[in-house]
Order: sequence, then C-alpha cells, then structure tokens
Amino acid sequence: MNFVTEKIEQTKAGLIICFMYEDESKKSELFEYLNKLSNNELQKQIYEFKTIKGAFQEIFKYSINEKLKVIVAGLGKKESLTRQKFSQVVANAARSAKTLCKNKIMALELIENKNDNIYCAFDKKEAAKIILCAARIGLYEFSKYLKTDKNQIETLELIDTAVTPEVEAGAQIGAYTSFAMKFTKDLVNESAQIVTPDYVANLASQIAHEHKLELNVFNKKQIKELKMNAFLAVGQGSVHEPKFIHLIYKPKTTPRKKIALVGKGITFDAGGMNIKPAASMLTMKSDMTGAATVLGIIQAIAKLEADIELHIISALCENMTSGSAYKQGDVLTAMNGKTIEVDNTDAEGRITLADALSYCDTLGVDEVIDIATLTGAVIVSLGTNITGVMGNNQKQIDKFLEISKLSGENTWQMPILEELKDNLKSEIADMKNTGGRNAGTSTAAWFLSNFTKSKSWLHLDIAGTAYIDKSNKETLSGPTGVMIRSLMNYLLS
Ligand code: BES
Ligand code: MN
Ligand code: ZN
Repeated sequence: MNFVTEKIEQTKAGLIICFMYEDESKKSELFEYLNKLSNNELQKQIYEFKTIKGAFQEIFKYSINEKLKVIVAGLGKKESLTRQKFSQVVANAARSAKTLCKNKIMALELIENKNDNIYCAFDKKEAAKIILCAARIGLYEFSKYLKTDKNQIETLELIDTAVTPEVEAGAQIGAYTSFAMKFTKDLVNESAQIVTPDYVANLASQIAHEHKLELNVFNKKQIKELKMNAFLAVGQGSVHEPKFIHLIYKPKTTPRKKIALVGKGITFDAGGMNIKPAASMLTMKSDMTGAATVLGIIQAIAKLEADIELHIISALCENMTSGSAYKQGDVLTAMNGKTIEVDNTDAEGRITLADALSYCDTLGVDEVIDIATLTGAVIVSLGTNITGVMGNNQKQIDKFLEISKLSGENTWQMPILEELKDNLKSEIADMKNTGGRNAGTSTAAWFLSNFTKSKSWLHLDIAGTAYIDKSNKETLSGPTGVMIRSLMNYLLS
C-alpha cells in the first residue's frame, strides 16, 4: 500500500471520499471542486433533493463519470463526533468504496474538528493518522486462500487544499501504524499449522535483518539454561519446539525512554490436558495475537526512527495434550525462583508470561508492558469491545487509559489487590496458576505481578478484543489489531 498527500487538483484517485456533518451547510473546497466536475449535480442531489442529510454513518454514492466516483459520508452532528466515531465512519466508507474504485487509487478528504471536548477534537495531523488507519481497517481482507476477484486498493491519497509538514508527519505515523495493524492481522489469520514458534522466530529474524535490529532467539536448550522452566513446561506436549524471541530497536541518539513490550505467544491453545471444548478451541490460533502485535509495532517504531529504545519479547510455544504434556499437580520453578503448582493447564499464558516478565527484569528498562489474550473472564466483565488494563503504577495506567481514549480505542481498568492472593493459595508451592471462577482477569494479573520487579508494569488483557466473532462498528469479524494504535501513540508520547 502506498500513501500520498495531494492537493485537490492533483488527485489521481478513481474514488474520492468526502465528509459531511449533519445540519451544516458549509461546503468544503473539495466539495466545490467535485460539484463543478458534476455540473452542479452533486449540490442539487444533496442540498435540494436531500439525498443525504449527513447523519452518522449515512453514505451517498455518486458517479461523476466512468473514471471518477464520489462517496459522501455522514459524520452526524459536529459536537458529538468523537475521534472514535470519525474512525468508524472512515472505515465503513472505505469498505463500501472498495469495489467502486476503478484505478486502485482511493482518496479521502482531510478534515479537522475544532471542539472543546478533547476526545472529539482533532487537527489535520491527527486526522491523517485516524484516516489512514481507519481506511485500511475498512479495506482489510485476508483473501490469500480465496479464489475471488481481488480488487485491492494500492494507493491511499489524503487530499487537502495545502500539504503541510504536520500533515506529512501525521500521515507517516498513520501509514506505519496501519501497516503494523495489517501485519498483525495477517499473522493472526494464518493457521497454526503454519504459524509455529519456529515460524515466528524466523519472521523475527527477517524483521531484524530488514530493520537492522538486534535479535536474540533462544531454542529449547538455551531456554533451559536461562532457567525458564515454567515456560518450557507449557510447550512440552507439542511436537513444535518452543522459541523465545527478543528484538531490540535502539535509536541513533540517546533514548528518551526504554520500554519492553511483551506479547503472549501461544501459537495454538488446545488447553493442554485440561482440554478445551471444541467451540472454545475454534479460534485459538489467535492466542499469539500479543506476539504478532509487538512484532508489528517494532517495525513501525523502527520505520519512524522513534527516539525510544524498544525491546520486544515473546515466549512462543503451543499448548497441546499429548503423552509428554505438562499435567495438573506439576510444580514448576520459574526463572525468578518462584514455584507454581499447576492447577489448570489451560491457564498457560500466565505461566509463559511469568518467565517472559522475569526475563525483562534483566534488561534495565523504564517500563514493561505486556499484551495478552489471557482470560475468558475479561469477556464476561468487559465484552468484546473493551480491553482490560491493569498494572502496578497508577500514573502509567492513567496515562495509558487517556491515550487509548484519544486513539479511539476502548479500555477500562480492573483492580489488582492483595486480596486476590488467597485465590491462588497452594499447599505445596508459592502459588497455584488458577483460582476459582471469580475475578478471573484480576487474579491472572495478580499472578503476573509476582514475576516482575518493574515499578512500571502495565498489563493489557485483550482476550475479548483481539479476535471477534461478529463485526463491530469499525472492524469485520476476525482479528482486530486492537491496542496497536494506542500502544503506538503511547510509545511516541
Ligand atoms: N487463551 C485463553 C484465554 C482466551 C479465552 C482468549 C477466550 C481468547 C478467547 C487462556 O489461555 C485460557 O484458556 N484461560 C482460561 C483460564 C482458566 C482456566 C482459569 C480461561 O479463561 O478459561
Ligand atoms: Mn488456555
Ligand atoms: Zn491461552
């Protein structure tokens, strides 16, 4: 996908998406330009015949000629247009525009929204970010295994009366953030038959090569030498060898901050000996979404030459049932020396993360953030459109919650209280890996908190939001690329 910013007269697009508020008669320069090309027909359709009023998500399709089509997308009332709603309009408009565009170049109008509410207001730089990400969400498809006609858009144009350096900067961030989302979604969509720990490790090595990153890949023997025996146990029932990956991006100048991003990397979660029922197992190729997410993000950060040091870490393995699988009652010793009694082999993510988080203690970073499809319980509490946020530093949590809201993504804090400790009380080890049915998300987070020494550790539970069965207001069913926009904005802030 190519991205360009163009002045109105220079557009080469076969389809242009422009926007319209409800109850507003002010017309943009782009509208006037298109209206002229339509011999005033566009003006008549909209303002005389009222074919479209500009209500939120309303869409009007118009053909100026064989080569140029227009979509007018309704934004609703100006004062109630949040960044998130704007993103939803763009995604849906791009989706419905896809098949109308004949020359694979799609243009979108760059608008701004002046508003006292910070969650509504966006300038043109912010708009460039939002539009490019949202358009690419709308256009996304995983059609590798389909024989359907592929009418892929190859270029996205942002059009405005003038092109400023701010807009160019926003467009760059938008382009690489949307790339990270597509990369992540593609990797999650690919079957677990292909995406094994070894496959992901090879991918990491390709990425390291392409972006000149430092890379450590540890095989089974090296994982053992590092004393990550908790992580090792989870993968021992699989024919695929576990891999531990650690990629490092360093900026050319002294880094402003150092952050470790850890992604849960279970390439398939069958549940282990506590095998999952068929329906729950169906989408468990997505249990490596965390790993895919951090791999997407580091590429974007490297491309943008951000001024932070970024470590990405993933403990990759497959959770299977077999004669060699780990079992209930096993006692595992994690890298930091703490012992875990296995109460349920399906609570495997926290066991692998325990060692991944302990490993981060050796890196000398300022912050550790993990992202994991960790608990079914987070779906019960927050549903499929809100990500659970936890951690041990309220300042960091507040900052992340604020940035995610400004990024148009839904997040909500869940508590980690000492109170939860009793849930995991074990007679023979420091803790069990599961408690009862209650407070599953917080209990898992409390478990994790035992394996980091970081004073700024943030935990994102994306089990509900990473992979959806039904379309939401922005994304079709399947992988969502959730938290990538928030994390990118957080890292760049
Ligand atoms: N990978 C699952 C969590 C999950 C569930 C992700 C649904 C996406 C959708 C995790 O490994 C798991 O199985 N968790 C168990 C923990 C339980 C045994 C305490 C769960 O939530 O059921
Ligand atoms: Mn599991
Ligand atoms: Zn899992």
